[in-house]
Amino acid sequence: MINKKLLFKKRPVGLPDEDTWELIDEKLPDLVDGQILIEQEYISLDPAMRGWMNEARSYIKPVEIGDVMRAGSVGKVIKKSGESKFNVGDYVSGWGGVQTHSISNGENLHKIDPEKSSLSSYLGVLGMPGMTAYFGILEEAKVKEGDTVLISGAAGAVGSIVGQIAKIKGCNVVGIAGGEKKCTFIKDDLGFDDAIDYKNGNVIKEIKSKCPKGIDVYFDNVGGEILDAALIFLRRNARIVLCGAISQYNNKDSIKGPKNYLSLLVNRASIKGMVVFDYAPKYEKAIDQISGWIQEGKILINEDIYEGIDNFRSVFLKLFNGKKMGKLILKVKT
Ligand SMILES: NC(=O)c1ccc[n+]([C@@H]2O[C@H](COP(=O)([O-])OP(=O)(O)OC[C@H]3O[C@@H](n4cnc5c(N)ncnc54)[C@H](OP(=O)(O)O)[C@@H]3O)[C@@H](O)[C@H]2O)c1
Repeated sequence: MINKKLLFKKRPVGLPDEDTWELIDEKLPDLVDGQILIEQEYISLDPAMRGWMNEARSYIKPVEIGDVMRAGSVGKVIKKSGESKFNVGDYVSGWGGVQTHSISNGENLHKIDPEKSSLSSYLGVLGMPGMTAYFGILEEAKVKEGDTVLISGAAGAVGSIVGQIAKIKGCNVVGIAGGEKKCTFIKDDLGFDDAIDYKNGNVIKEIKSKCPKGIDVYFDNVGGEILDAALIFLRRNARIVLCGAISQYNNKDSIKGPKNYLSLLVNRASIKGMVVFDYAPKYEKAIDQISGWIQEGKILINEDIYEGIDNFRSVFLKLFNGKKMGKLILKVKT
């Protein structure tokens, strides 16, 4: 049986290009005792993958040159050898990487139930972005009823769930997104109270007018100038959740930090970084609660699915060029 796999060939400077990866065919080896073979169905595309390609120290080891590109995935067990807690026919989620098949000893793999929710949703609302949103807004920001919550990257995988959970908790929610279509979507479909189009307007003026009492929580997915603008409008005891800084990930030189940070001092405010993996022991509880909200119609699944592992690079670039809505996913089989 042939596996198509995407090898990491060269660390990019700026956006990945044709030299960054190479797609190759390989004959799958025989399984050894305790291993399972997974036919991958969906691969997750996340902004964090850009960071994993850098050599710098981070919360996770960088992807090494020659490795299969690291990615979250869901798939079906199609073969097993000897004893394993997984059976042929089981659906699983894990770190299968950008390839059509993966071989695993079962470590860090979770059985998922396609009857409970669609397979792709285990990469989005019930996967890493959903967990980030859930624990970020509830446990890091500790939102309470009446808070004004400002969210950047609001039409993306994490931001769109953060906003919906904040609405469930009775907050006034304002999202920042690029373009009219995304702004209309987060208001009309996701129920945000207001939206700011950062590509067509002055973000500082817009925050002032749409958060007239200031901001209690800023959930930051993008960093850069938008973080600086949000800092101006903090209320006393405001909390900033430092979730990501996508506007900085492809910088060819250094990352730009905020100028307006003294607003934290003046307003007795805090900014705190989070890494979702720290919450892994609590994922099951979050999955149950989010599934309940989906069934009650309080959370809308927001996914953008493209097909074909051959198209990986062009689909990956959609994370950074605004040409996608919601959780970006690659369906392996065309
Ligand atoms: N800390 C953690 O544990 C953790 C876990 C998961 C994700 N994250 C981080 O959370 C953030 C959001 O992740 P996600 O999965 O929601 O990604 P996503 O679905 O790609 O959404 C991110 C959004 O950012 C916007 N964006 C892209 N480039 C931008 C720029 N230069 N300036 C402003 N906005 C820009 C895009 O929308 P527009 O079209 O509106 O620009 C995009 O929809 C990322 O920074 C990611 O690294 C952190």
